[in-house]
Amino acid sequence: MDHFLYRDGALFAEDVPISEIAAAVGTPFYVYSTATLQRHFKLFDDALDGTDHLVCYAMKAASNQAILKTLAQAGAGMDVVSGGEYLRAKAAGVPGDKIVFSGVGKTADEIRTALTGGIRQFNVESEPEMQVINAVALDLGKVAPITIRVNPDVDAKTHAKIATGKSENKFGIPISRASEVYALAASLPGLEVIGIDVHIGSQLTELEPFELAYTKVAELTERLRSEGHNIRRLDLGGGLGIPYTRSNDAPPLPVEYGAMIQKTLGHLGCEIEIEPGRLIAGNAGLMVSSVIYVKSGEDRDFLILDGAMNDLIRPAMYEAHHDIVAVEEPAAGVEQRPYDIVGPVCETGDTFARQRNMPPLKSGDLIAFRSAGAYGAVMSSEYNTRPLIPEVLVNGDQFAVIRERPSFDEIINRDTIPGWL
Ligand code: LLP
Repeated sequence: MDHFLYRDGALFAEDVPISEIAAAVGTPFYVYSTATLQRHFKLFDDALDGTDHLVCYAMKAASNQAILKTLAQAGAGMDVVSGGEYLRAKAAGVPGDKIVFSGVGKTADEIRTALTGGIRQFNVESEPEMQVINAVALDLGKVAPITIRVNPDVDAKTHAKIATGKSENKFGIPISRASEVYALAASLPGLEVIGIDVHIGSQLTELEPFELAYTKVAELTERLRSEGHNIRRLDLGGGLGIPYTRSNDAPPLPVEYGAMIQKTLGHLGCEIEIEPGRLIAGNAGLMVSSVIYVKSGEDRDFLILDGAMNDLIRPAMYEAHHDIVAVEEPAAGVEQRPYDIVGPVCETGDTFARQRNMPPLKSGDLIAFRSAGAYGAVMSSEYNTRPLIPEVLVNGDQFAVIRERPSFDEIINRDTIPGWL
């Protein structure tokens, strides 16, 4: 459920007409709903009710500080994957003891930043990384709290580019080598081993792969405890999928996911962390764009939009489907017709949808991409010298620009010309 609904023939974000935002900021833009962000966070928080837990929002999904603050005020911690994300979370007011640091290649500088500013834990991904965290911690006279990310060799049954839990993926240490790696960690004085971390992929639409992985984590917890490690925290990663279409089967709900966690891991008495990103932000955001031209091709019509692959790369990168709707609600019974929906960027990959049925549209009409809140704005670029598009946050009947559209001067003046030119 989200808060982008038609009212009296027009699409709204909560109580604000999309057309009003478009008139104020121009298109294309991203718009997020506060109520949807809060609702999705609460679904996870409630799903783990009764268990000591922290929902650490995977801020890579949408990292605007206004979004982080909204979620932090609701009680979220943050999962960060770079020094930049760490500093952004801190800038949004998230305390270090609610920030977990994931990622396969943390540099010594990033580790130092986090240890200095305060960190809940590092999710360690390899032995060399463990050695660096130990060295930096000793240098700073600190002890770094860590979990070790294990790779359970489970098929997440998702798009290959976002599956992370198979042995051929770059993530984590093989679960078969866990005893050895935990023993090494325990021998390093700059580290305090507190738990286990696992994350098997993103946009999972079934519980089974999670359950397989978490069952392995339960077994591992008992084994490591018997080997003398005080395993008291389990970070279970993110990955629960969202419905990208209104028609297909809906993925499991957070409450079902939470019940499965209790079932597979509840008996261990560990504190539970989860790192959802997409399910919190995905359906809390739209990308709104205008039709520039309707072009008739040899055998098809093209809707050429002012939004492009640089603004929303998911269709080009993952063959992802986003529902696309007209902002003005089509009249009942109006005949839909197929369009190829494309952006103005100079490559055929800049195609959002092929032969998608839409109501008749004309130049200047507004359309909205649904489910664009996660991995939308954060993955955008300035390809074709197209400015990053603004982000807007709606809260009830109010809206605010939370990232401005840069001017062409700002973009162009970032280049510096060497003296020899
Ligand atoms: N934790 C870790 C360690 C992760 O690597 C990720 C996502 C998450 C949590 C959050 O997963 P989520 O709940 O959002 O599924 N750009 C791709 C998705 C990449 C996901 C990367 N890791 C896309 O647009 O589909």
